[in-house]
Amino acid sequence: QFQFILIFISLKKNCFGNEEIVTLANDENLKYRLHYHIMASSGWMNDPNGFSFFNGDYHIFYQHNPYEVTPGNVHWGHVKSKDLVHWKYLPNALTPGEPYDRNGCFSGTAIVDGNNLILFYTGNVDENNSTNYSSQNQNMALSGDGVKFEKFSRNPIIPFPPEDGGSAFRDPKVWKHEDNWYLLMGNQAKENGRVVLYESKDLKNWNYIGVLASSWNGSLGYMWECPDFFKLNESYVLIFSPQGLERDGDKYANLYQTGYVVGGYCYEYNHFSYGHFTEMDFGHDFYAMQTMETPDKRRVGVAWMGMWESNFPESEEGWAGALTIPRELYLEEGKLIQKPIRETKLLRKSLLFSKLITVNGMEEICELKAAEIDIDTKLCADIDEFGFVLDDQEGLVVKFYLNETDKTFNLDRGDEDPRKTGFEELLYLKMQIFLDASSLEVFLNDGEITFTSRIYPNQSPLLSIFSRGSCALDVDVKIFELE
Ligand code: FRU
Repeated sequence: QFQFILIFISLKKNCFGNEEIVTLANDENLKYRLHYHIMASSGWMNDPNGFSFFNGDYHIFYQHNPYEVTPGNVHWGHVKSKDLVHWKYLPNALTPGEPYDRNGCFSGTAIVDGNNLILFYTGNVDENNSTNYSSQNQNMALSGDGVKFEKFSRNPIIPFPPEDGGSAFRDPKVWKHEDNWYLLMGNQAKENGRVVLYESKDLKNWNYIGVLASSWNGSLGYMWECPDFFKLNESYVLIFSPQGLERDGDKYANLYQTGYVVGGYCYEYNHFSYGHFTEMDFGHDFYAMQTMETPDKRRVGVAWMGMWESNFPESEEGWAGALTIPRELYLEEGKLIQKPIRETKLLRKSLLFSKLITVNGMEEICELKAAEIDIDTKLCADIDEFGFVLDDQEGLVVKFYLNETDKTFNLDRGDEDPRKTGFEELLYLKMQIFLDASSLEVFLNDGEITFTSRIYPNQSPLLSIFSRGSCALDVDVKIFELE
């Protein structure tokens, strides 16, 4: 087979303000391929799984169909890293095929116990051999070297049906507290989403404890996927991904959501008293966040940068789906804050642009491929809109802006409804933006609000910063080219 690579010459606005002649090796087949995000080498990917640290390496597994760009019978793909930003592919860790997982090795966690890295995952079984299910059970697989995994001989460790009723029964999260292991799982009980808890002394025999949190009357969804539960400061955080929330104004604009509740938890009585559900991200593509604690005690999470039933234009390149950059999580006044992990600084190749500019209208900056863009400004009273635009010369790729009139942040790809969320008083705006060949992650005011969306420019987009209103803004802009 021959592959043709088109070489052509174009004029581009570089970040030093000069017109520059560049030679682009433009392999049209790879225009959406990401530079610094985890994605499958080919085929389909969804949720992150088994985020862990074992023998000096971080491991992330992911839901993966190596044969097609659609979900199918999912495997566990596998990457590892020393620093959370440079990842290496390893062989697939789990392949479906046993009677208890023949229609997919669904999502789960990894824990380290003694010399083993142990995976807990859901075996999906469907009598009609589709990607639906007729039963779901929980299983274990062990590895001594962190590369080859052996399924436990007495799988499933938690069979179907669940003790306390319900149908969907998946996505185990396992952790240790004092001398006990706990396993929390998503479960659908009639039309109620909920999470159910099990306990074990030896990881093989599990006792059902009961419901840890629930939608009760279904008002918070009919199924809760991919739960994660951890202590942060003195509180407990439950992250989960409910299915079945109705859109409510600017809230719950995607098909499914990922969000959290915060509260107090008592292990002795399995009692969790918690507040309201808050969405974690306001872009189009953020789902199934999974977290771990790093050796230096940071709580770090990573999510699928995708959404069920979305289009994945990259599938024409033979791959679909990616993960977000890992994010450090903090709890401030009951609110979960997400910051890009500090290791992203290791990705900085060069400082492309660093200037204080005055913005009053549209200011073209430069064309960018894989970049971190840091924009800081003090807002003035008469500003109506402030933000940035990425344009690929064939048209708008994305516009992100603050609208002072209705006090919202907006991400508009020009396709479906813009994604929005409100803010209260703002005097200062700091945007940390991670742009990759087909993705955008925006962190506002040190991670108080995030927007994560896939975007699909046909070529490196031109960044412009703009404002509308009767005052000019002094804006500090720094741009780093990323590896
Ligand atoms: C969430 C999810 C999980 C399931 C997996 C299947 O995106 O639906 O509940 O385990 O994906 O790939």
